[in-house]
Amino acid sequence: MLGSTAPPPTPPSTAGEFLDSILETKSELYRGSRDVLRDGHVPSRLPHREQQIRQVAEILAPALRGDVPSNVLIYGKIGTGKTAVVAQVRQDILRRTELASHITFIYINCGNIDTPYSLLQNIGNPFAKSESDRIPTGWSLDRVQAAMRRLMDSRGGTVILVLDEIDRLVARSGDSVLYTLSQLNTELEQARLVLVGISNDLKFTNHLDARVRSRLNEEKILFPPYDALQLQDILRDRAKEAFREGVVDPGVVDRCAAYAALENGDARRALALLRLAAEMAERDRAKRITPDHVVKAKNRLEQDIILDCCRTLPPHCKVLLYAILQACERRRNGVLTGEVYDAYRRLAERLGLQPLHARSISNYVSELESLGLIRATIVSRGRGGRTREILVDVPISDTMPALEEDPLIAPVGRPRSRGQLLLTNFDNPGRTGPF
Ligand SMILES: Nc1ncnc2c1ncn2[C@@H]1O[C@H](COP(=O)(O)OP(=O)(O)OP(=O)(O)O)[C@@H](O)[C@H]1O
Ligand SMILES: [Mg+2]
Repeated sequence: MLGSTAPPPTPPSTAGEFLDSILETKSELYRGSRDVLRDGHVPSRLPHREQQIRQVAEILAPALRGDVPSNVLIYGKIGTGKTAVVAQVRQDILRRTELASHITFIYINCGNIDTPYSLLQNIGNPFAKSESDRIPTGWSLDRVQAAMRRLMDSRGGTVILVLDEIDRLVARSGDSVLYTLSQLNTELEQARLVLVGISNDLKFTNHLDARVRSRLNEEKILFPPYDALQLQDILRDRAKEAFREGVVDPGVVDRCAAYAALENGDARRALALLRLAAEMAERDRAKRITPDHVVKAKNRLEQDIILDCCRTLPPHCKVLLYAILQACERRRNGVLTGEVYDAYRRLAERLGLQPLHARSISNYVSELESLGLIRATIVSRGRGGRTREILVDVPISDTMPALEEDPLIAPVGRPRSRGQLLLTNFDNPGRTGPF
């Protein structure tokens, strides 16, 4: 009896064995690349977004005839396909190579941009023909604007500027840069600019100057959340593309879709559950993905969301969060805002960055608080007035390594064993964009 039982597989212990085990199991579940389930992948079909694709295409199509399309704002809750739809329409437009030769698409995720300066730099620099044409740092904002216009005019044609997560730009820097962009066509000579704003805050235009609002809002498209049945269709398509036949148990797709439908109908969440369920199956060395793996995936995803959120912060906000974590780790209790600013400034300088002003950092403190990563409470200091005490609301031991994966923070990070890094990178490759 005993002799007929196969010995249990020895778990991998070295980084090399771990890597081998991933590669081994990968081929059992996946057809090809696991990227098919990641955010950066633009699927060939976007079920239940046919109407929105048509609307975006109709608005931008005049560019192919040489006319200037209207500006457009796209609204919808997270994971409703806004970025994916715009990416697909962009591909479809650029595929018509002859008609589209005068069209330049520029995609900017405003969530990754700290200041109006860096936004204008990011718009102008793709037009630079050589390194010396690029807009450097340290100029006045007026000079950057003029350089950006000159660069755009040097190529001419229609520039379709996609400002994804535009609400985050406004929350951080106000609407003056949008004002500049929305009236750029009066100053451009050879080029014409079209703005495509994408936001998941349905009310963000309420905070805009009336002129900016009306210029941005020439056209408006709303993306509704997906229901459970629509999410099932989306997942079935992706599962077919990603996995070998027969690998996904009945019930897996339905369960992922049901969980995600409860969470605001977010397709990103549904896909992440499916991807993580596959990872759970691989770790169990299972040959099939079962509904139990989805339950495990759901628990893991709840932890990962915090880490993903940290990874997608803009650079200075990451440095600030890292400074707060360092301070709280040493102190094991709250730190005051003045101390936080000093710690941030020192860290930014060590990393070779020009520190932002205290006001911008104060806005970032509020942003980190609204993301639920820290808590700031007002404390009275007697005659010294009132200040805010900051506490972290995430596990420091998990969050610091996640931030240290970023090349920006890595130089001040603590060394980790290779096995640990490999595990972290494999688990959380970070969010990429489909552009
Ligand atoms: N209809 C769909 N069919 C297939 N995949 C979809 C569909 N809608 C969304 N997705 C996928 O779901 C993920 C999230 O979509 P997307 O990034 O476009 O959402 P979003 O509305 O831009 O969200 P956010 O507001 O958070 O930026 C992406 O991987 C995308 O490819
Ligand atoms: Mg998006």
